[in-house]
Amino acid sequence: MGEFMKKDQWILGIETSCDETAVAIIKNGREIVANVVASQIESHKRFGGVVPEIASRHHVEQITIVMEEALKQANITFAEIDAIAVTEGPGLVGALLIGVNAAKALAFAHNKPLVPVHHIAGHIYANRLVTELKFPLLALVVSGGHTELVYMKEHGHFEVIGETRDDAAGEAYDKVARTLNLPYPGGPHIDRLAHEGCPVIDLPRAWLEEGSYDFSFSGLKSAVINTVHNAAQRGETIAPEDLAASFQESVIDVLVTKTKKAVEEYGVKQLLVAGGVAANKGLRSALEKTFSDGKIELVIPPLSLCTDNAAMIAAAGSVMFEKGIRADLSLNAIPGLDIEIYNT
Ligand code: KG4
Ligand code: ZN
Repeated sequence: MGEFMKKDQWILGIETSCDETAVAIIKNGREIVANVVASQIESHKRFGGVVPEIASRHHVEQITIVMEEALKQANITFAEIDAIAVTEGPGLVGALLIGVNAAKALAFAHNKPLVPVHHIAGHIYANRLVTELKFPLLALVVSGGHTELVYMKEHGHFEVIGETRDDAAGEAYDKVARTLNLPYPGGPHIDRLAHEGCPVIDLPRAWLEEGSYDFSFSGLKSAVINTVHNAAQRGETIAPEDLAASFQESVIDVLVTKTKKAVEEYGVKQLLVAGGVAANKGLRSALEKTFSDGKIELVIPPLSLCTDNAAMIAAAGSVMFEKGIRADLSLNAIPGLDIEIYNT
């Protein structure tokens, strides 16, 4: 008794950058109290990808419902919330705007600080909902829109040491899946098929220049599409499971090899994996095998925290809030936002 008790910190996070309307409330940066996600995948499926106008319309319809549900789950009122964190970018501009405007309206109405969050910072901070971060660390970000290696020397400080020069890993998965007539999003289907086949088809690996941590997946994607078309022209069929296995092997080979090199060069304590493709079983087991010597700690969030959600935005928001990062009511959506802008 009598010792100094720090007040709990409550952050409400909002995420609407793509096709998930999400609101979450977290306590003290690490504890999920509410995490509500309304997915639109079913609405976009028949178009084979996300249709921006449809995404915006769904966000408008869902945002207040999801917000109320999150407050109900957490059983708290706005009076107890310390700050409102929202994804300001990158993403689809019309989709981002719904979250940004909801956040601004709430911040104004309840007189709360507004904290802008970078979507990828959110994906990385999903890992802090699993375990405490140890610096320096490296994050392998693999999602539908991004493939990046991010070095962090401390909380809230992001240095992109490598990124894709064309397609993101998830984008390549989705396009290859489409070629194989698999439903959107194709990543999980390719992953499943890959485990039924053998990597017998020779596909390229883009290593790029010596020493580069950048990635490129468009050549691999084209090679898969050409393989399918050439076989069709010859009247032959290729076993889709073998093609999936060969494609997956190529993606994983490049991701794991470059990540291992960066982990060694930068001497990090932790390797965090983030983004929707972190759900990939082949990638998970390849990383687990590569880093099984225990020299560094490998952290991969559970599936529900790998794909888009607002708990990760609140987790990153908690750190940015403590760093003093604030937005005012002129906050806008920035579709091409740079993750390094809040580094100090
Ligand atoms: O992070 P995310 O939910 O959204 C973005 O911010 O992009 O990632 C979605 C991506 C999709 O491309 C999806 O196909 C991919 O993650 N994905 C997977 C798997 N599960 C989801 N890719 C490969 N294997 C999986 N098991
Ligand atoms: Zn995402």
